[in-house]
Amino acid sequence: MKGVILAGGQGTRLDPLTRITNKHLLPVYDRPMVSYAIDSLVRAGITDVMLVTGGTHAGEFLRLLGNGHEWGLDRLLYAYQARPSGIADALSLAERFVQGDRVVVLLADNVFERSIRTSVERFREQEQGARILLAGVEDPAHLRHLGVPRLVDGTVQEILEKPDDPPSAYAVTGVYFYDPSVFEVLPTLRPSGRGELEITDVNNHFVRCGLMEYDVIDGFWGDAGESIDAYYMVNDFVRQFGANK
Ligand code: DAU
Repeated sequence: MKGVILAGGQGTRLDPLTRITNKHLLPVYDRPMVSYAIDSLVRAGITDVMLVTGGTHAGEFLRLLGNGHEWGLDRLLYAYQARPSGIADALSLAERFVQGDRVVVLLADNVFERSIRTSVERFREQEQGARILLAGVEDPAHLRHLGVPRLVDGTVQEILEKPDDPPSAYAVTGVYFYDPSVFEVLPTLRPSGRGELEITDVNNHFVRCGLMEYDVIDGFWGDAGESIDAYYMVNDFVRQFGANK
């Protein structure tokens, strides 16, 4: 299984910090944010990875990560996203790297307390389709900024992106597992209201085909790019308790 880490986008919600660097290079406790996504993959046994980034600070990733060996990777490739046209657009740049294999995609601003290893193993056993990781989130105001699944009898019926009226108390986190057919879905997408190719549209394709599985994660999950307060909450958590355990 291949790993793809998405570290493009504009990081406008952390402006002005992101005028001088890429969001995923900002510190989370004692290391740049992107290193937590790498660590998460390495601890789950995935060491063949592509990092997708963009913007004016892309070269700094090379300076930080080099060939990836120091970070536990066997192979690290890079792709450059010319415009921040969405998570699904960024993923499409990894098609030739993934080359018919299965893939786990991580958003580089997501930080997890626990290892994703069990979900990786479950996806290896899953015959086909896709898998997402859900986190319990109580606050509806928070859910309005996230992808939220409608769940009936333990199956995902639909995922709503940033819904006014969240249909469950779960968020779709930034870890997605796909079989190779995902690269047939990506070219069929149309830009959303915010002008992006949405990963939620990709996921809803697998939901409609009856091929979407999910796990509910244990422990803390944070999207450090969501707001400056979320960024500090993730920092405080990691400083006290660590990550990817
Ligand atoms: O964090 C989880 C949430 O991430 C999910 O609940 C949502 O369903 C999903 O759409 C996403 O929402 P965000 O609004 O937080 O996505 P954001 O635009 O912040 O992008 C998340 C990461 O994806 C970002 O850290 C870098 C990468 N990205 C994003 C864009 C728009 C790219 O690599 N390229 C892009 O063009």
